[in-house]
Amino acid sequence: MKRLANIGITLIVTIVMVSCWTDNKKPNFQYMPNMYEPVGYKTYGEYIGFPREMEAMLPVSGSIPRGWIPYGYKNTLEGKILATQELKIPIKVTEDNLSKGKELYTIFCSVCHGDKGDGQGILVKREKFLGIPGFNDQGRNITEGDIYHVMMYGLNSMGSYASQTSEEDRWQIAMHVLDLKSNLNGEPLWSSIQKKSADNEEVIVSDEKNASNEAH
Ligand code: HEC
Repeated sequence: MKRLANIGITLIVTIVMVSCWTDNKKPNFQYMPNMYEPVGYKTYGEYIGFPREMEAMLPVSGSIPRGWIPYGYKNTLEGKILATQELKIPIKVTEDNLSKGKELYTIFCSVCHGDKGDGQGILVKREKFLGIPGFNDQGRNITEGDIYHVMMYGLNSMGSYASQTSEEDRWQIAMHVLDLKSNLNGEPLWSSIQKKSADNEEVIVSDEKNASNEAH
């Protein structure tokens, strides 16, 4: 019985000492290393054979991020003129788009351009920012394409809004700016004219449909 107790104590002491000897700084024995070491390349791992000997590579030139739609106009005076003439709002004039446009305009643009678009934003009133045009400024031909282009690249002291807004956001804002412009000019709202002409088109289409139905 005494021998058994002695053996037991020796065994426990040995186990305790062995457990203290292991080196924490080195990885332990790996049973089936494939379970620990990935067969594929490690993210940002260093490997011979890769350009710059690094697993992470730069994107192929000309590649674009998912969801990003390339913008075809350059940030030059010619690019701006082309965008002003050619670019058209691709989304429909709906109450939803108009109210979102107003909301985004109030967030991003009002501080300088003012809620009415007359160039009298709060920063102008407090004399923090000068030289902000009204959207009805005679010297400027502010069109839907121009508004979009200026939001993409900015213009002189106005910054770009391309990273804060999506493509849809920018078109919604452009709609609101066009409404502000017509309001400043004392003209009927741009959006109401668009809606009317859209209604007319629908009437014409349905008339044609009726006519062709009758013919059958
Ligand atoms: C920090 C102040 C500031 C903010 C904020 C700002 N703008 Fe401007 N914006 C300016 C200034 C200054 C100009 C005049 C730039 C010039 O002609 O040199 C300008 C010009 C413009 C023009 C006239 C472009 C042209 O072709 O002459 C439009 C349109 C416009 N801004 C739209 C917007 C919209 C839309 C937003 C919000 C997304 C916005 N701005 C936010 C300062 C601002």
